[in-house]
Amino acid sequence: MGHKILLIDDDANILRMLSSVFRFEGYSVITAEGGRKGLEILYFDQEIEVVICDIKMPQMDGEKVLEQIRSRYPLIPVIMLTGFLELETAVSVMRQGAFDYVTKPVNNEKLLEVVEKAVRQKERMIEELRKKGQEEKMAALGRLTAGFAHNLNNPLSCIIAYAEFLKTKYPHEERLDKMLSAANKMYAIISAMLDKTRKEHERKRVRINLNKMLTDELEFFEADLDFKHQVEKFLDLADDLPDIEAVYSDLSQCFSNLIKNALDAMKMSPEKKLMIRTGWNEQQLFVEIADSGCGIKKEDLPKLFEPFYSTKSKQGEDGLKGTGLGLYSSYQLMRPYGVTFDVQSEVGKGTRFRVLFPSALAIQPEAQTTVGSTV
Ligand SMILES: Nc1ncnc2c1ncn2[C@@H]1O[C@H](COP(=O)(O)OP(=O)(O)OP(=O)(O)O)[C@@H](O)[C@H]1O
Ligand SMILES: [Mg+2]
Repeated sequence: MGHKILLIDDDANILRMLSSVFRFEGYSVITAEGGRKGLEILYFDQEIEVVICDIKMPQMDGEKVLEQIRSRYPLIPVIMLTGFLELETAVSVMRQGAFDYVTKPVNNEKLLEVVEKAVRQKERMIEELRKKGQEEKMAALGRLTAGFAHNLNNPLSCIIAYAEFLKTKYPHEERLDKMLSAANKMYAIISAMLDKTRKEHERKRVRINLNKMLTDELEFFEADLDFKHQVEKFLDLADDLPDIEAVYSDLSQCFSNLIKNALDAMKMSPEKKLMIRTGWNEQQLFVEIADSGCGIKKEDLPKLFEPFYSTKSKQGEDGLKGTGLGLYSSYQLMRPYGVTFDVQSEVGKGTRFRVLFPSALAIQPEAQTTVGSTV
């Protein structure tokens, strides 16, 4: 079913005529003869995306309806139908927050065009709100993780200090070495976690070594026991890969989405192989993430980067869940860098995602220092 619109007009003929125009174009249409009826419908039907409303109506005029919709449903765009030569009214409704106005007698094409614009704007607004909500959620989660990791440091330092003290008393006790080595490993994990959350909250462009970033991402996936024990990992990282300049979290989120998808795709595969490769030439640097998972049907390839496209929400035997925003947001995050994606896939065999960075993002070798750029 197409986008749902609500038509409000006191003239039944106009309602009939406009309904057939919009239905013909694939919209789903609801009509209301008058403002009060229109508001009642809006109250009960939460799927209405756009309202088209006449200005001159006997009981409740269009301006009143507009005022009510603006205050109760601020995300729904309202398009007003005004009389010919009623410029003042048109100006007034625009000031009150109408999305646009179309003069009567209605030019169908013009009205369709305005409605399409309104639908697009509404989708954009919802997406922005969603992104903002997601960012806030991530920020809160980041703060929580950072605090949690930080608090673990104190008892851990205490364990290390006592183990070291005991080691001076019992220098030949090997079990103390094992204890110290495990505690130091924990310390390194906590430091890496704090480092990652700190980097992910900076919106500054920084020097990034893609190889290092990918190995760090994999390190975090190790927390997933299936990943740790059942997935074979193959790394083929170009050791002369130039550093690039970008916002850390934009890239790390994109790689984490691609790795997560690869793991999901292999959930039911007997053979689980994750291959990560980097390389570069004069024109571009690439990161390749390939899996031996279920693959993607040819006809589904064009849908991958669409918002909310997901094959994971049907709660099949694999128990996977997805919102369908992973690839869409990866694409949005990478767009400002001129990054392109290339996908090759074969059903039953696996998938290879390639993220291609223009070489203009690379930091020239003479400007490179060795600090932080080694794998
Ligand atoms: N490596 C892959 N192998 C097979 N299918 C894939 C792969 N990567 C993506 N897909 C397909 O593309 C769809 C969209 O991926 P996307 O990451 O955008 O959403 P999702 O993983 O379903 O949900 P989420 O929002 O949690 O990431 C997936 O549901 C899946 O069908
Ligand atoms: Mg995903």
